[in-house]
Amino acid sequence: MTKRVAILISGGGSNMMSLVTAMDDDGFDAKPVLVLANNADAGGIAKARAKGIATAVVDHRPFKGDRAAFEAVLHETIAKHQPDILCLAGFMRVLTAGFIDKWDGKMLNIHPSLLPKYTGLHTHQRAIDAGDKKAGCSVHVVTAKLDDGPLLGQAEVPVLADDTAETLAARVLIEEHKLYPAALQAFVKNGG
Ligand code: GRF
Repeated sequence: MTKRVAILISGGGSNMMSLVTAMDDDGFDAKPVLVLANNADAGGIAKARAKGIATAVVDHRPFKGDRAAFEAVLHETIAKHQPDILCLAGFMRVLTAGFIDKWDGKMLNIHPSLLPKYTGLHTHQRAIDAGDKKAGCSVHVVTAKLDDGPLLGQAEVPVLADDTAETLAARVLIEEHKLYPAALQAFVKNGG
């Protein structure tokens, strides 16, 4: 059965596009049914629309920090599209256990570090500051603990002597674009 996938973004949506493009392949038994952003100017929304994918924006700001109220609307908006799987792709809102429970075992995330190292933000600078020789990205199932949960895959890149957070991020992002579709495909094949 073709799995229905909703993708949540906050920004440019390059990971979202790598997922969407991969799902165009006949051998990939999944299709994007919704791209949702938490801000109207997320560049990925226009890209998804251009691909003919349904889009939605649920702006977190009017909720003024009331996460439960924001997540209630988020959930309702997503549920209308009846996805089987949610993919967080650069979605920059922390989700509460109440929301995560509703998608238990069905929500994936990509994080730009070799988890369990560097959960949270500024992962690339932290890897450079620590003198790490390698960095990378991880795809995992989302659980209530931030950037935790069972790993579905990781990809590594070298940290070079003259790296800045920006150059390292660019090198990692190339791997993210390969890792996330591969991890999603394997997840779907294994019964997702
Ligand atoms: C990626 O590095 C992702 O891992 C992260 O934010 C970035 C999103 O980029 N947490 P994009 O919106 O997918 O282009």
